[in-house]
Amino acid sequence: MAVSALLLMQRSLLGNVDSAISDSQRQFTGLVSQLGFDSPAETSARSIPLVSRARGLFPNDIIQIEDLVFYDRDWLIEALGPGRTPEQRRENIAYIRRLMDSRRVVIGFLASQPLRLSDAELTQLVESPAGRITLTREIQNAFGSQADTPTTYRVQVTLGPVQLDLSPTDPLALNAPPPSFAITYVGRSLAGVHDTVNTLQSVLALLFLTGLIMAGVGAYVLAGQALRPLRQVRQAAERIGGQTLTERVPVPQTHDEVEALAGSLNAMLDRLESSFEAQRRFTSDASHELRTPVTAISGHASYLLRRTEPSGQQRESLNIIVRESERLTNLIASLLQLARSDSGVVNLTRQPVFSGLFLSEVARELAPLASGQQTALTATGPDIPFEGDPDRLKQVIINLVGNALKAGAQHVTMSSSAEEDGREVRLTVRDDGPGIPAEHLARLFDRFYRVEDSRSRDQGGAGLGLSIARSIVDAHGGRIWLESEVGRGTAAHVQLPVGNVPVLDDDDVP
Ligand SMILES: Nc1ncnc2c1ncn2[C@@H]1O[C@H](COP(=O)(O)OP(=O)(O)O)[C@@H](O)[C@H]1O
Ligand SMILES: [Mg+2]
Repeated sequence: MAVSALLLMQRSLLGNVDSAISDSQRQFTGLVSQLGFDSPAETSARSIPLVSRARGLFPNDIIQIEDLVFYDRDWLIEALGPGRTPEQRRENIAYIRRLMDSRRVVIGFLASQPLRLSDAELTQLVESPAGRITLTREIQNAFGSQADTPTTYRVQVTLGPVQLDLSPTDPLALNAPPPSFAITYVGRSLAGVHDTVNTLQSVLALLFLTGLIMAGVGAYVLAGQALRPLRQVRQAAERIGGQTLTERVPVPQTHDEVEALAGSLNAMLDRLESSFEAQRRFTSDASHELRTPVTAISGHASYLLRRTEPSGQQRESLNIIVRESERLTNLIASLLQLARSDSGVVNLTRQPVFSGLFLSEVARELAPLASGQQTALTATGPDIPFEGDPDRLKQVIINLVGNALKAGAQHVTMSSSAEEDGREVRLTVRDDGPGIPAEHLARLFDRFYRVEDSRSRDQGGAGLGLSIARSIVDAHGGRIWLESEVGRGTAAHVQLPVGNVPVLDDDDVP
């Protein structure tokens, strides 16, 4: 686009120059006689004032005229035509050149550096039907403002009859002299055209660049605006999790795909929420329904054991019934707790807890269990105050220590440490048990997931302990994870935010 505009512009400017040159040419040939041109060869001294008159009349042009006297166009065509041998043609050209050199007047530039046509140009001029060719030449304009630097000129060369006046002193002046044949050169500087084209080029380049930048910025802004509702929907969708299924993404009123997408997302969330809710209610209802009969079974079995005289065989069966119903009661309690945490109602009773004290208390509570299987259970670490529900957290740590004991560890160490520049507290339960193969680590927090079914079931775990631990830690805004190496032991970490505990001075600590 820009390039074609530039070319068009250049062509029209050149056209203007050409027509101006043609005008000058016409005027000049019409004026030659009135200017009182000498037959140029006569004496150049006398023609000097005439030259300056012509220069005054054509200030913008450079002019050169070469009088061919009576050798007209037909003669020239004949002399350079195909009828001649190349040798003859060369000779004729040399002759014409001598003629041109001897009868030349130069106006507007250095006479010592006249315009000279090449052989080819001369032939072209002679053979051109209009007797006219246009050339582009570098000419050093001695009279111009930039006298030293050559300027590009467009030069129109015309071959035709000219009424050359004879000298007024010539007696023959009384008679109308016959027209003379001459080559006229009229040239005009292209500096203006070049300047204009260059300026236009810069302007166009600038416009193009500006347009490009504006288009880029515009596209960026538009794309950003078009994508904003999508971004909002995405951010809202990312916030929604299992605990926050009641939330919905905002539906932007854009009447396009984004609005439809947000609508579909919300419809999907509706379905997810109702199926989650159905599952949760089933677990919760089933647990409730099971609680009463299990209590009844265990109560009646205990009654029989206490109040009757069962035989040895019967006593053993009754003992099994009591033990298994206890397990069932625990399982039902766990299921109920999970169902409650699924519906997002884990009610924490937050209060300040001292990590060291807390762990020693758990150690004291579990000491009988640990010593029962010859395991050393210790609690170490600084007393870091933090905010939490001590009963629920005790449940977590008891489960972790219980897992270590069930795994058959010889030493179990509980410790606490400050993390994240004191903003979080970490409770760790480390054991030297058999460890957990890496492929199980990620799935241990799934419900009912156990590494080795038969052994775990024997030892009474249903595989819900870590799920419950995680729901409690989540409710505290913390994280729980396991690190384990087969053959060396396992470390379970619980990391919690310290929360809003009053900062104690050293003297306040007992
Ligand atoms: N410290 C540990 N060492 C070895 N295995 C472990 C340890 N902690 C947990 N596990 C494995 O993870 C399983 C899941 O633990 P958990 O969710 O507490 O269920 P449960 O204790 O009822 O079996 C356990 O059955 C056990 O196989
Ligand atoms: Mg457990």
